Amino acid sequence: MAKYTLPDLPYAYDALQPYISKEIMTLHHKNHHQTYVTNLNAAEANLASLAGDDIKEKLKLQAALRFNGGGHINHSLFWKNLAPAQSPAARLAAGPLKDAINRDFGSLEAMIKEVNGATAALQGSGWGWLGLNTKSKKLEVVTTPNQDPLLSHAVIIGIDIWEHAYYLDYKNVKVNYLDAIWHVMNFQEAEARYKAAL
Ligand SMILES: [Fe+2]
Repeated sequence: MAKYTLPDLPYAYDALQPYISKEIMTLHHKNHHQTYVTNLNAAEANLASLAGDDIKEKLKLQAALRFNGGGHINHSLFWKNLAPAQSPAARLAAGPLKDAINRDFGSLEAMIKEVNGATAALQGSGWGWLGLNTKSKKLEVVTTPNQDPLLSHAVIIGIDIWEHAYYLDYKNVKVNYLDAIWHVMNFQEAEARYKAAL
């Protein structure tokens, strides 16, 4: 039996339009995320059934585990950190997260600029993050390559900057995707993560 399963989206496939199309959301969730889940289950099963001491084979399976496990974790976080643009969740309300953003970046606009700048500058595929440094309790901007999950910080917001996340809507113009995504950011979820991480 499969250990990991594809989580349902918390909204309809067309709920993030016009910022992210129904076509992207459908392919991204049903195909891309499902593939990470399928390959994660396969890697775990193969690792568990691996007989003997073939270290090379183990390393290969561990690499598959890291990639697909990261893909599953990252996308599960990503769906929940988005919300329809008209919903109250998509507004940064007064509260502890807003206070922390103002403290650490000066303003919401400055924070978005920093996240977008670092994320756009990432070479190849990966993720841009707003994370909480759990030691200093400060919000920081971080990126990770490929499907590496964010382990150094607690995730507040994650942005998928793989081409599959934006190409159908924005072609090669990454910055337009990065500007658009903030219209469908779930700040309610971000604040819940912030409070939980403190
Ligand atoms: Fe993705």
